[in-house]
This record gives sequence, structure tokens and C-alpha cells, in this order.
Amino acid sequence: MSHHDEHLSENVSIVQPPVNFFKKRPDGLEPYIKSFEEYQTLYQQSIREPNKFYSEQAREHLTWFKDFDIAKWPEHGFENSWFVNGELNASYNCVDRHAFKNPDKPAIIYEGDEPGTGRTVTYGELLELTCRAAQILINIGIKKGDTVAVYLPMVPETIATIMAINRIGAIHSVVFAGFSATALRDRINDAKSTVVFTADQSVRGGRAVETKRIVDQAIKECPQVKNVVVFKRTGDKSVPFDPKIDLWWHEEIIKYKPYVPPVAVNSEDPLYLLYTSGSTGKPKGLVHTTAGYLVNAVISAKYVFDIHPEDTVFTAADIGWVLGHTYVAYAPLAIGATTVMYEGTPVYPTPTRFWDIIDDYKCTQFYVAPTALRLLKRAGDHHIAPYDLSTLRALGTVGEPIAPDVWEWYYETISRKKASILDTFWQTETGGPVLGPLAGVTPLKPGSCSFPFFGVECAILDPQSGEELTGNEVEGILAFKTSWPSIARTVWKDYNRYLETYFKPFPGYFFTGDGAARDKDGFFWILGRVDDVVNVSGHRLSTAEIEAAILENPAVAESAAVGIPNDLTGQAVISFVSLKAGVTPEQIEKTKLEMRMTVRKEIGPFAAPKEIFIVDDLPKTRSGKIMRRILRKILVGEEDQLGDVSTLSNPQCVDDLINLVKTTY
Ligand code: WTA
Repeated sequence: MSHHDEHLSENVSIVQPPVNFFKKRPDGLEPYIKSFEEYQTLYQQSIREPNKFYSEQAREHLTWFKDFDIAKWPEHGFENSWFVNGELNASYNCVDRHAFKNPDKPAIIYEGDEPGTGRTVTYGELLELTCRAAQILINIGIKKGDTVAVYLPMVPETIATIMAINRIGAIHSVVFAGFSATALRDRINDAKSTVVFTADQSVRGGRAVETKRIVDQAIKECPQVKNVVVFKRTGDKSVPFDPKIDLWWHEEIIKYKPYVPPVAVNSEDPLYLLYTSGSTGKPKGLVHTTAGYLVNAVISAKYVFDIHPEDTVFTAADIGWVLGHTYVAYAPLAIGATTVMYEGTPVYPTPTRFWDIIDDYKCTQFYVAPTALRLLKRAGDHHIAPYDLSTLRALGTVGEPIAPDVWEWYYETISRKKASILDTFWQTETGGPVLGPLAGVTPLKPGSCSFPFFGVECAILDPQSGEELTGNEVEGILAFKTSWPSIARTVWKDYNRYLETYFKPFPGYFFTGDGAARDKDGFFWILGRVDDVVNVSGHRLSTAEIEAAILENPAVAESAAVGIPNDLTGQAVISFVSLKAGVTPEQIEKTKLEMRMTVRKEIGPFAAPKEIFIVDDLPKTRSGKIMRRILRKILVGEEDQLGDVSTLSNPQCVDDLINLVKTTY
């Protein structure tokens, strides 16, 4: 953590939010939160009187079929229920109520991979599409509480699908369409989904991906899957179709009437599962509930991003991540704004796609992971200069730390010092931002995610003693002291694992897995994961999963994977592998290739290690535990800071490793 210490001691100057923010609304509407003092007052209320605060928020922002009895029960501690005994429906809140008011208003602007392709879907059309898709589900036999797997690209039908699923009280489990057949299979089986929604192919960066074939491969080992609903994205004739299992989306939806009523579900009924990596090999299906998740989605979008119904929100994230769930789908739609759904990459065919979209559709909020910004910064500012971008009021980042120089670039080149830069910290587990500035009002420091959001009480814990470190200028483990509405309630069918993972490491606190510091002015700085989770281009990966995939290769004896800093991808995965006796030097290159393929096959292409070092031996403790910390230090050139290696069971391997890394990397 040494390079972060400078933030604590040095004077990183505070950037005041741009005053122009307040003048930017052409319709003269004022921001929801007008001053930093107002934030502070509301924040105190959200912590001291959660029932009062959240009762008001929930009744103001959502439409309830049945009012709740109490907002938070019990009022203290962690294992709370929210909006107890309330009844509502998510699709009704995201679609129906806006469609009834203004059916012709654009709900989704879909920008296809190829420039000039795409279409706009109005709230009226989205309601119809959602209702028809809901009847596909009903007809197949999906009932309230069943899970439905979604493996779809960034097309409007994907939003209609997740809305259709929640409309009938079922639970969606979206699997990022970059995951491999094996990863998809495991997620379908863990959730026991009987239906998968997918596309014939996907298109990204000008290339077709065989999405349906991946699903076919996956469900070979999913005996419970009865049907696959296939959206025709490209119409490629070679895509396999088995009429016993497969249904074409376009043939199905026309069989049903344009409206079917939503099902009222309990506030605490699950809305969705979303799998994410932890420090062990097996991904966890985190469960988000209907009311709590939705309340937080709406209030974070309103207060952090100042999203109004008149706004056009562009979140450049895949629907397969929590950011896509909340900021492509649920939050903008629940507010009744317009959401931009972009199918492609930031750089195809030119690195101007984001700026084209922002200018063409007059986007007011833009939200992206720093990895894309690093790429576009590198591409050169001449790609950006011709664009207007003046409609933007809030520019968010999430998913990894944003380096101060990238922050400055975002502020000068994209915001042009007129839109607020919002570095927001959240996790799949938190459902929405838990730390982050509020647009227009929170003072900023480049690289800091500033202050906690409403309802979130942060603590910084001493990693050894577990004691809370109070006051400023402290550094330790980031934890939360109480729950807020959108905290994940459990791991799917494994409440014990939920307690073990999040509450056992530091009793009385929710453990985030991240290190953090609070500087002399009370600003929070995220210092990265303290567990075996790495973050490559915003993809959350477990090194244990990568190690397990590599170990499947029969030539491999031992494997260790570590994350190290990388200029472009944030972190990169480097693997160290020792081979079994008898593998000849000629076979080594082929084995390396096989290992890469296995990782791609088991997890996905994005997880393949950047470098694989073949070594004779890995540094181990006397009890046989691989010392990944030593590998990491050697990789970043800190071999003088290895500490006492004489306690290792095989200290002699350290010099060999240093030489190997020095000569080849
Ligand atoms: C990291 C993404 C620094 C962090 C929404 C966290 C961040 C993990 C930030 C969650 C940020 C997220 N600054 N690091 N603003 N936001 N992270 O579940 O390590 O895919 O634990 O959710 O991303 O990743 P996940």
C-alpha cells in the first residue's frame, strides 16, 4: 500500500464541484440536493433515523401495491429486512407507470455495434415487449420464485427479458455473455434454472460471437434445462436450433397479447441473483431483494448522479455486471429517464464511439469503468476535440481505482470542468454506490471516492486486531457498521456462506475485502482488495479460480496466480506454474498454450493470464502454503522488501524466481 500513503500525508488539493453544474439544466430544474450541508444533514438522518428517512424515500420514489409496515426491521444490526410486508412489482415501477403517463417517451436508446445501427424503444413499446415476454415464461411453466438464466448481449430485448422475469415474480440470473460455456453451466446448475434466454449470435467490435453454441455446450450438462429462448440478433443460418428445446423469441412474442398484469411480490422477495468471484474458487450467487434494491437504485441515481426523468443516461457497462443491472436497466427506468444501451466496444471502428453517442443523443450522465478511460486517453485527445459534450452534467467511474492523472484528464478533456466527476465505490454485494460524491455539491479529490452514501456507515478496521480505527489519517480494512436497503441478503441457497464470507472476518461488521484510508480531511481512498480477488479491466476475478483451471492440465504440479498493477488494465494476472517430472522442454510452449486455453474455457477469455512463468519450485511456508505475497513483490521489483525468507521451507527458490522474472519480464 506504500504508494498510497502519499494521499494521507501530502496535500492533495480539493477540487470544488463545478458551479456550472447548477446552470446546466436547460429546463431550469434544480438539482435534487443543493448543497454539501444538505447532504450532511440528510446523511445524519439516514443513519440516526433510518425508519423515518427510508419510509419517506421509499414512498416518494416507488409505487407500492401494498404499503409496508416498517422500513427497517430490526432497526439495528445487520440481518435486517427492509420495507417489511410491503408489496410491489419491479417492472411496474420501471415500465408501466411511465408508459401510462407518456407511452411515446424513449425508454431505451439502443446503439448497435456498427455505427448507424440501432433503434429507440419507447416506454409503451417496452411495456408491450415485457408483457409478451412474460407470457412466454408463463407458457413454459415458470412460476414465482423460479430462477431464469439470461445470457444475452446488449440489446433492448435483454431489458425486456429481465423485466418480464420480475413481472411474474421469477428471479433473473444474468450471466455476462463473455463467460465460457463451463462458467455458464456452473451458474445455471447452481441456480437450478430451467430456462435460458439467449441470442443466436452476439456482435462486438465487428466480430460475431457464437452465443447460442456456447449455451448449447453449457446445457449438455444441465439436465434440468427444458427450454432455450433465442433472440435472433444476426440471423446466421449455421446456428444450431433444436425445435424440441429451442424457441425463437420473435416467433413466440407474437403469440401473446400486449398486456398482462404484474404480480405483486413481497418487498423481501428476491429480484435477482448475480454471481461474483470471491477468494475461493466457487462463484457466489448473491441475492438482491425487490424493494430494498430498487429503493437504493433510485435514490443513488437521483442523489449521486442527479438523474431526472428528462435525462438521458449512458452507462457504458455490460448488463452482466451489477453496474449494468442498476445503471443500464433498473435505476434510469425506475426514474422514468431514457437509458442508452450500447452494444459495442469503446474503440470500434474508431475510438470516438462514446463521444458520438453522447453528442447524438445529448446524454446528461455518463458512467464507465476507469479501464475504458485509460484506453481512450491513450488514443489521443484529437478524437475528442471536435465533440460538443456540453449536455453532460455528471461523469461517473466505478469498478477500480481511478488514478489522479486519469481523473484530471476526465475532468479537463471530457467534463471540460463543467460536469462533476463522480468516483463511486460499490460491489456486487452492495447493489449500488456506497461511497461517492454527490453531483454538483461534494468537494472532490482526484482519486478519492470521497464520502459515504446515505445509510452507509463506514469503518476502517485494524487488520490484526479488528479494532475500529477512529478519526482521520487512518488506514486499514473497509467495513460497514450497519445495513442499508440494497445490501445482498444471502448467497443463493447458502446463508452460511454469506455469514462466513461477510460477517465472520470481523464480527459486527460487513467485510468488503478492500483496504481503505481516511485522510486528514475525512476523504476515503480505496486501496484495493486485501483478499485473492484481482480486478482486470473492471472484471472481478478470483486467483483461486484461475489456479484451479490451470491445475486441470495434467502436466501441471502446482500453480499460483497473483495480480500486479498494469497501466492499461488496472491489474494483470500473472501465473507461476511448476510442471510434473517428465515434461520435456519442447513441450513447455504447448503446455503454456493449453493452460491459457483452459482458463478461457473454464472462466472466459478475459481471465487468461498475461504471463505464465514456468518455475522449478514455488515459495512455501513450512506448512505448505504458497507465499503469493513473495511472488507479487518480485514481480513489481520490490525484491529488497521480501522480509525474512529463511522461514520458508524452500528459501533457495527465491533467488531463482528473481532471476527468472528479471531475465524474461
Ligand atoms: C473495486 C463493481 C476503487 C473494489 C461495481 C470492489 C473500486 C470491487 C471502486 C467490486 C472504486 C469498485 N475505487 N475500487 N471506485 N469501485 N472497486 O463486485 O475492489 O464487480 O471490491 O462491483 O471493485 O467489484 P464488483
